[in-house]
Amino acid sequence: MAMIREKTMQTRTLGPAGPTVSAIGLGCMSMTHMYGHADAAESVATLERALELGVTFWDTADMYGPKLNEELLGRVLQGRRDAVFLATKFGFVPDATDPRGVRIDGRPEYVREAVDASLKRLQIDTIDLYYLHRVDQATPIEDTVGAMADLIKAGKIRHIGLSECSAATLQRACKVHQVTAVQSEYSLWTRDPETNGVLDACRQLGVGFVPYSPLGRGFLSGEIRSPNDFEAGDWRRSNPRFKGENFQKNLDLVDKVQAIAAAKGCSASQLALAWTMARWTHIIPIPGTKRRSRLEENTGAAAVILNAADIAQIEAAFPIDEVAGDRYTTLMQAAVNV
Ligand SMILES: NC(=O)c1ccc[n+]([C@@H]2O[C@H](COP(=O)([O-])OP(=O)(O)OC[C@H]3O[C@@H](n4cnc5c(N)ncnc54)[C@H](OP(=O)(O)O)[C@@H]3O)[C@@H](O)[C@H]2O)c1
Repeated sequence: MAMIREKTMQTRTLGPAGPTVSAIGLGCMSMTHMYGHADAAESVATLERALELGVTFWDTADMYGPKLNEELLGRVLQGRRDAVFLATKFGFVPDATDPRGVRIDGRPEYVREAVDASLKRLQIDTIDLYYLHRVDQATPIEDTVGAMADLIKAGKIRHIGLSECSAATLQRACKVHQVTAVQSEYSLWTRDPETNGVLDACRQLGVGFVPYSPLGRGFLSGEIRSPNDFEAGDWRRSNPRFKGENFQKNLDLVDKVQAIAAAKGCSASQLALAWTMARWTHIIPIPGTKRRSRLEENTGAAAVILNAADIAQIEAAFPIDEVAGDRYTTLMQAAVNV
């Protein structure tokens, strides 16, 4: 299996004229919540190892933890701020009056409030890439992005990103200020950005694309064999793709990819990541892990080169219309700007 043991990580740019980042990033969300228990010491060790390996494009959000994730990264960044290209997000706000317990806020006054709170938790002066986590349907995107552009002028952020935006929203946003990255779910089992125009819009507008959950929330690794593998409270227990008979149907697809990976001498996770990277040179996946061993394995995906025949073989083994279950519950899907 391809493993990276030294600082040999390649780089990519977020769009043709965008900033340079490690070709594979690190999703930090599960270091504080979502996917079962996280060992704080191992999370810190994973971040330290990422620095050693040159995996310096780190992804967090104010809602992870909530707040605890940014605080964790802030502690690790002390004394080596410049070693990392740090991305965080705002927009989800706990709301006692909303039955979902969370609302989306993209109002300019909230943009200004949220950035100061994130900077404080991260103990830094400037965020490299600041994403709107979900588009606020009640606030024109021009207003939100205008306020984010003001943050660039004020030196509080360097670049603007949007998460789960539509192609039309991205086009409108870019008229106000260049957007550097779009972050949306994208993997072998979630290929919406190919069909909803978002990847095409990124190409046309020179915007980098950052696939989140590129390992299908761990499922594409082939290591999750039963819904009982999830701890109590693991968010994935409520996800349609992991429920009932959907689980086994999807696992059958993963097993086929695992066989292709074995023949290629890499792991299924590495193949899944290499597949995203092969789609466009300005795609930078951010696999999430809270363990050093998996970080090392995932980093090895940069060395897995896929040609057109490999891509065709993988996609034939994993037909998107055979994936069972939606990627989100109806409630969570409603927050996606399609
Ligand atoms: N913008 C958004 O709305 C949004 C939504 C979701 C996620 N994100 C971001 O995207 C990042 C990545 O997404 P994600 O964490 O949801 O999903 P992911 O990267 O597809 O998968 C993460 C899961 O896979 C496991 N894993 C990682 N590497 C593995 C390997 N080599 N073998 C077996 N299992 C492996 C991890 O477990 P361990 O941690 O135990 O290793 C974790 O449970 C997040 O951390 C977050 O920063 C953004």
